[in-house]
Amino acid sequence: MSKIVSLTNQKGGVGKTTTSVNLAVSFAVSEVKTLLIDLDPQSNATTGLEALIENPQGTIYDSIVGKEKISNVISHTRLDCLDIITSTNDLVGAEVELVNLMARERQLEKALKSVQKKYDYILIDCPPSLGLLTLNALTCSNSIIIPIQCEYYALEGLGQLLNTFRLVQKNLNSKLEIEGVLLTMFDSRLNLSSQVADEVRSFFKDKIFETVIHRNVRLSEAPSFGKPALLYDANSTGAQNYLSLVEEILHNGN
Ligand SMILES: Nc1ncnc2c1ncn2[C@@H]1O[C@H](COP(=O)(O)OP(=O)(O)OP(=O)(O)O)[C@@H](O)[C@H]1O
Ligand SMILES: [Mg+2]
Repeated sequence: MSKIVSLTNQKGGVGKTTTSVNLAVSFAVSEVKTLLIDLDPQSNATTGLEALIENPQGTIYDSIVGKEKISNVISHTRLDCLDIITSTNDLVGAEVELVNLMARERQLEKALKSVQKKYDYILIDCPPSLGLLTLNALTCSNSIIIPIQCEYYALEGLGQLLNTFRLVQKNLNSKLEIEGVLLTMFDSRLNLSSQVADEVRSFFKDKIFETVIHRNVRLSEAPSFGKPALLYDANSTGAQNYLSLVEEILHNGN
């Protein structure tokens, strides 16, 4: 069965892209057929995997505004089980262009129909906003992963995110679930990290992943080489944390 999962939190810099990229690669090395969609005009997931992309095709913008069939914008990577749909800054324009389309929240869902069956997991890296791009992602997804940074104000804005989640569930996509809330950038030396983790746990209860992503410099260095942590330093805590997350997700799904 193929499953579509959006990485979303309208708060910026919480680890959406780091999680999308490293989760996608960890799935792929576990022989889970994966498509990563970069749905952010900042295109950080695209640059973070640049060294792996073999035959750059068009971008998600072309497909979401109906200019290209989605099969024409899928790029293969050096990993057998990983494909990616890249983005560029053009995607900023999509928010505006989509406004005038009928069923504007369903463009991505429509586009993905023809390729969905080829993959076990489709991961969508959302932008830090709750605009039309994120709505498109939530409308076509089975579930969402919410990365939360273990810092001050971690829970700020989550009410708004959960509201949007419920609205989409009610009006656009009744199958949408919370796959899990992921604590990121956890620093075991800081009391603050533990305090935030406790606060998030008491808010989300069993929706929290057991796996916690520690603050790890390899995770922040790897993108400048266009590589995921697993291919930059396989033994790093960051790479290992994301492998554990894959195990947890696959285990929960069975
Ligand atoms: N576990 C981690 N340890 C150390 N650095 C990290 C970790 N996770 C993310 N970072 C760094 O923190 C910054 C923000 O992470 P990332 O780009 O993944 O967040 P984002 O939620 O996608 O941001 P945006 O909202 O702008 O799309 C990046 O510089 C990234 O390299
Ligand atoms: Mg990002």
